[in-house]
Order: sequence, then C-alpha cells, then structure tokens
Amino acid sequence: MTGFATLRLDGVTRRFAGTDALAGLDLEIERGEFVALLGPSGCGKSTALNCLAGLLPLSDGSIWRDGTRLDTLPPERRGFGMVFQNYALFPHLSVQKNVAFGLRMRGVPRAETRRRTDAAIRLVHLEEHARKLPGQLSGGQQQRVAIARAVVIEPALVLMDEPLSNLDAKLRLDMRSEIRKLHQDLGLTTVYVTHDQEEALSMADRLVVLRAGRVQQIGTPEEVHDHPANRHVADFIGFRNLLPGTFRAGTAEINGLTVRAPGSPVGPLRDGDPIVAAIRPEDIALGSGVEATVEVAEYHGREIAAEVRTAGGLALHLRTPRRLAPGDKVAVTLPAEKLLIFPGEDQ
Ligand SMILES: Nc1ncnc2c1ncn2[C@@H]1O[C@H](COP(=O)(O)OP(=O)(O)OP(=O)(O)O)[C@@H](O)[C@H]1O
Ligand SMILES: [Mg+2]
Repeated sequence: MTGFATLRLDGVTRRFAGTDALAGLDLEIERGEFVALLGPSGCGKSTALNCLAGLLPLSDGSIWRDGTRLDTLPPERRGFGMVFQNYALFPHLSVQKNVAFGLRMRGVPRAETRRRTDAAIRLVHLEEHARKLPGQLSGGQQQRVAIARAVVIEPALVLMDEPLSNLDAKLRLDMRSEIRKLHQDLGLTTVYVTHDQEEALSMADRLVVLRAGRVQQIGTPEEVHDHPANRHVADFIGFRNLLPGTFRAGTAEINGLTVRAPGSPVGPLRDGDPIVAAIRPEDIALGSGVEATVEVAEYHGREIAAEVRTAGGLALHLRTPRRLAPGDKVAVTLPAEKLLIFPGEDQ
C-alpha cells in the first residue's frame, strides 16, 4: 500500500458483550503526524488501535484512507506496522529473521531484504544480537526487535501499543527519543498508545485523551497540558490536587480557603454550584498563606514531593526544592492564576 494524505476514523465503536469499549471515536490523522492515545487502564486504547489495525471488527462506524474505505480490509491489506503491548515475536526465529519476516512475506528480493533488515537492526542498536532468539534477549531488547520488525516494511502507518511499558526507567527515556527520532527520520505516521502522560506529552504532535471508551479531548501537548477540557483530563495530565468546593461571588471556596476564581470556569457557573478546583503540585506556593503540616515527604532529587494538611483538614500534594520533613509547619497559597475551576457534577 502506498501512503495517504489523511486517515479518518468516523464514529468508530467497538462493543464487547453489549458494552462499549470504544464509543464513537472521530479522529483525523494527517500523514507524518505522531498521535498519542492516552488514558487509564481499560479506557479503550488497545481497542482503538486494534480496530485501526484490523485485528478487531468494528461494531459501528468506519475507517477511511483518503477516499477509500479501510475497515472492510483484512489487516495485511492495510499495510500498517504494529508493535504490540506484549511484543508478539516469533520465538523460534532469530532477531534477523523476525525483522526480515514482513519483507519475505511481501516477496521483497533477497539482497534488498538483507539490506533493509540490517538497517532496521542498526536503527534499534541490536547488531550484536542479530543471531539470537527472542528468548535470549532482555525485555527491552525484545521490544526493540518488535519496533525494527514494524518499521522495516516502511509502513504507511505504525501502530504502537505501550511499546515501552516493560522497560526500566532509563531505557524508557532513551527509547522515547529513539522512537520519536525514527518517526522523524523515516517520515512515519505513528499512532502510539500509552497511559503515561509524560510519554504522550513529550513524544506526540497531538494527544487523544480517552476515558471509559469516550474521547475527552483532542489537542496538542500544550493545549491538553495547559487547558484540560474537564477534570478527568486534568486529573490524568498531572493536576494531582482535585479539590471539591463551592462557587460563590466569583470565587472558589475550598474547605475554608477562598481563591478568586481565575476566570477559567469550564462551563457557566452560578453561585452555590459545586466545583472542583484543580492545581498541579508544582504550582502550589510556599511561604505565605494558610498554615499546613507536612505529613509525607518524598525525596525526588532536586525536589521534595510532599503531602500536607491544612488546619481545616484539606490535603494537598505539592513539590518544592525546600527540604521538608514530616511534622514541619509550612504556609501554602493556591495562586489563582494556576487554579482551574471545573463544574463539580459528574460529567
Ligand atoms: N476481548 C475482550 N472481551 C471482552 N471485553 C474486552 C475485550 N477486550 C477488551 N475488553 C474491555 O474493553 C475495555 C477496553 O479495553 P482495552 O484493552 O482497549 O483497554 P486499554 O485502554 O488498552 O487498557 P490497558 O492500558 O490496561 O492496556 C475494557 O473494559 C476491557 O475489559
Ligand atoms: Mg491496552
């Protein structure tokens, strides 16, 4: 299959036993884009990817490559490369043969298969392991084989399902930039599934945030990071403090604290409406304001992540370079310009 200008998912829905695992996903993917599907476990990320790959039939909706309907085609005719959550390598084939597999299936001449396979193995730095079987490799090395196997066919679209989930923290960081670099160097179009917000923010051109099978927000990393569409997205994107309160006279009343509402209410609010105020740990200011006691202090190198409790009983997560310890008294302020106000009713 050749390239495409746009891939369009139109109301893509998948039900299992009558329950929506994915409900009406609308999404346009431009050629060359890196799109991340982000959301908690069970929100429908793998379902969406498998529908796109053709491994799951749709219960409703359609998928289009430019003007051509795709969802009726079997997976092998869609020309997509896939990296699975659990690698899915052939255990009896060497790294070399695993990577070459897709090219051999497509009848690519032997010399070209050799050249492209070697290049793909070099890309993921596995030259020294090319003759080993998957069982003789570490998890991270196996994952890199899976990536090489997906990109070697120069697919129109690469689908990756949590490809870094089994790697240690350092390798995960390295592989993040490797994958992003591969995407750029090979001019790929990538749909990348992750539950890790940092991974999604740092790698993707655009994020699709899912919750319980439904899209919550589609936007650039900056849009989602700075302007989460609702409190579920806020929660997922690092607003660790979600504080229930009441909207009154243009202010947010949160457990005895009154914070001038920063004009960010998402949706119209009236006096007395329940709200949820969201603020990131790193945005809570120390030094003046309400007194609070440190209950938990975790060392994070440059910063301490602390849980504090105000006299009124409000628990707050904050981050600070100050070397706090349990029992310390601090004064905290919730800066109005950092606070997002969402309607408190369930959305
Ligand atoms: N084969 C299946 N049969 C029945 N229910 C399923 C099946 N596959 C997925 N589901 C359900 O569909 C929902 C979405 O699952 P999915 O695997 O897409 O989640 P996910 O976002 O990829 O989660 P994770 O981050 O844990 O991989 C879940 O509630 C799951 O239990
Ligand atoms: Mg999954």
